[in-house]
Amino acid sequence: MIPGDIRADFPLLSSVCYLDSAATSLSPEPVLEAMLEYEHTCRANSGRGVHRLAQQASQKYRDAHQKVKKFIHADEGDLVFTRNSTEAINMVASGLPWQNGDRVVTTLLEHHSNLLPWMRLRNRQGIDLRLLTPAQDGTLDPADLEAVITKKTRLVAITQASNVLGNVVPVAEFAKICHDYRALLLVDGSQSVPHIPVDVGQLGCDFLCFSGHKMLGPTGTGVLYMKEPCLEPLILGGGIVDRVTAAGYTLAEGYERYEAGTPNIAGAIGLGRAIEYLEALGMEEIQRHEQQITRRIIDGLSGIGNVQVVGPGSEGTRIGVISFVIKGLNPHDVAIMLDGEADIMVRSGHHCCMPLMDLLNLPDGTVRASLHCYNTIEDADRLVDTVRTIAGDF
Ligand code: ALA
Repeated sequence: MIPGDIRADFPLLSSVCYLDSAATSLSPEPVLEAMLEYEHTCRANSGRGVHRLAQQASQKYRDAHQKVKKFIHADEGDLVFTRNSTEAINMVASGLPWQNGDRVVTTLLEHHSNLLPWMRLRNRQGIDLRLLTPAQDGTLDPADLEAVITKKTRLVAITQASNVLGNVVPVAEFAKICHDYRALLLVDGSQSVPHIPVDVGQLGCDFLCFSGHKMLGPTGTGVLYMKEPCLEPLILGGGIVDRVTAAGYTLAEGYERYEAGTPNIAGAIGLGRAIEYLEALGMEEIQRHEQQITRRIIDGLSGIGNVQVVGPGSEGTRIGVISFVIKGLNPHDVAIMLDGEADIMVRSGHHCCMPLMDLLNLPDGTVRASLHCYNTIEDADRLVDTVRTIAGDF
């Protein structure tokens, strides 16, 4: 069970019904306190100085990496802090040694972040980009990957959970196919890592990207896990070198190689504390809790005339992202009404997934409610009751 009293850790919840955690989650007080403690007690740069504050800051920064590594069960490989998933995916796109004619496979389920970097490679470097098409409920069929993967496929880039439909993709099945063809697998874990237990070994991926701000951490924090340090760093500068001479440089081993410049130290410490917070609740428990609320929302919305729930039903493995439309109403208008009438915060529109909206024939997008551990059955009922009123279905 998720204890109800955790809501006191999120002061905003006393004034709003927050159902927009797929966009960004709220940070609990212990995360904010950990960041403030760094500012108050050991504000210094990390990985540079030898004075005691610098050593304390460096230790906290290193510890944060270790906490995140343990969280995704990464026994090997490097875990690099980034600004967000978007930056992490761009680091992979710009850092691999591409050759003309290399194939990249991604899908129409992806967020623009996992689409545009590959489109740019197609335009600039002649990458042969293939896009798998999901079913209407978001399901991706591994057989579709079998049909397009070849020995020239350098990378497959796929989301583990849709930020629009909430379905969870069976990534391990895709990984087996990638391994048969020696293709690298990048998994966008932006919507999965914050909500379900994730183990990079079980996923079988080469890269895993996710954002700290969607998992109770601060904004401006993200992660790129890589099994092998096979990327050219995107940015060069201080903090990433082993040795520099007038003639050239050699780069450091480990995550330092990829983190040029002073990093977001307070943010990293906050992310490490967010991981501890999630672990104390238990990821299985969080998943179970969110599934229960998801079921309540889907069952409630499905019973309202004029409302169409978009995506998979409430059964099976999915995350707490629920998209819907009210016939005849623009999703942005619905979002404004939910805010104005019941202080409910949801996202509306295309959710940075325009090709998916085209596929679903939803040019105005959807209204999207998305959950985290702090949501309750009362939130679900408040949403359903208000949507019923807006839809005029009494
Ligand atoms: N990727 C975030 C979302 O789906 C911003 O809302």
